[in-house]
Amino acid sequence: MQAVITGASSGIGRDMAKILSEKGYDLILVARRRERLEELKLPTKTKIFCYDLSVSEAVFEFYRQIENEPIDVFINNAGYGVFGSFFDNSLEDELGMLSTNVTAVHILTKLILEKFQQQNRGYLLNVASSAAFYPGPMLAAYYATKAYVYRLTLGIYEELRRKKSKVSVSVLCPGPVKTEFDRVANVNFSLKGLNSMDVAEYALKKMFRKKTVIIPGFTMKLGKFFSRFIPEKLLLFILYYVQKKKA
Ligand SMILES: NC(=O)c1ccc[n+]([C@@H]2O[C@H](COP(=O)([O-])OP(=O)(O)OC[C@H]3O[C@@H](n4cnc5c(N)ncnc54)[C@H](OP(=O)(O)O)[C@@H]3O)[C@@H](O)[C@H]2O)c1
Repeated sequence: MQAVITGASSGIGRDMAKILSEKGYDLILVARRRERLEELKLPTKTKIFCYDLSVSEAVFEFYRQIENEPIDVFINNAGYGVFGSFFDNSLEDELGMLSTNVTAVHILTKLILEKFQQQNRGYLLNVASSAAFYPGPMLAAYYATKAYVYRLTLGIYEELRRKKSKVSVSVLCPGPVKTEFDRVANVNFSLKGLNSMDVAEYALKKMFRKKTVIIPGFTMKLGKFFSRFIPEKLLLFILYYVQKKKA
């Protein structure tokens, strides 16, 4: 049994690596910080790759390195946020985020699903966010990247279901989680963050049960339910103040 995790050098990805290794999975891990991946010292066989997934050539090169490996689980987890007004944020920073959160996820989803369909099995977990459910003033581009991951995964789910495929696709949509995310995005969460290990455990448990949309925590489930009854303009008005407080 072997699992691939992108963005395994910290946070949710690192905790998923620990859990899967304890379950007996060999691992293929990728991130930019080699020393952080090496520190992990997991009980099963672990292959480490250092690539910047914001560069499409690096994404293809990473996949070329692993395409002949047996793979049972693939987790597109690497990602980050760029906080601030759309009019102040640098285009270069935003494009880097779009390449990591959207383009790399799209490429790897496409390539791994070709392999999974050939073997007619495999679990793909794409890490989106509860941000996927809402518009996000002050984090507008980040929210949009996560909406892409959410919608892409759901569309693929329906196509696979109609093919009666045994391949499973899931999308993880957490609210705030205590990781390095807030430091990287330069934000202070307005809600208390969930524990990253709890989120990783919950996500993997649901993924193995083939749950399509995985939302850890009662508050975010409730938020998603009630948001459908609130007019979008009102939601935007409220969310602007919620987001502004994160500065
Ligand atoms: N924490 C939250 O509140 C929260 C909520 C909802 C969704 N999420 C999503 O959860 C996922 C994991 O984030 P986290 O919270 O665990 O944050 P984190 O602790 O900052 O971890 C992010 C991981 O992504 C990797 N990464 C970032 N940019 C990369 C790049 N260009 N190339 C390769 N790897 C890259 C980082 O590794 P290197 O820096 O070593 O490259 C790191 O391992 C992200 O997709 C995030 O959007 C987080």
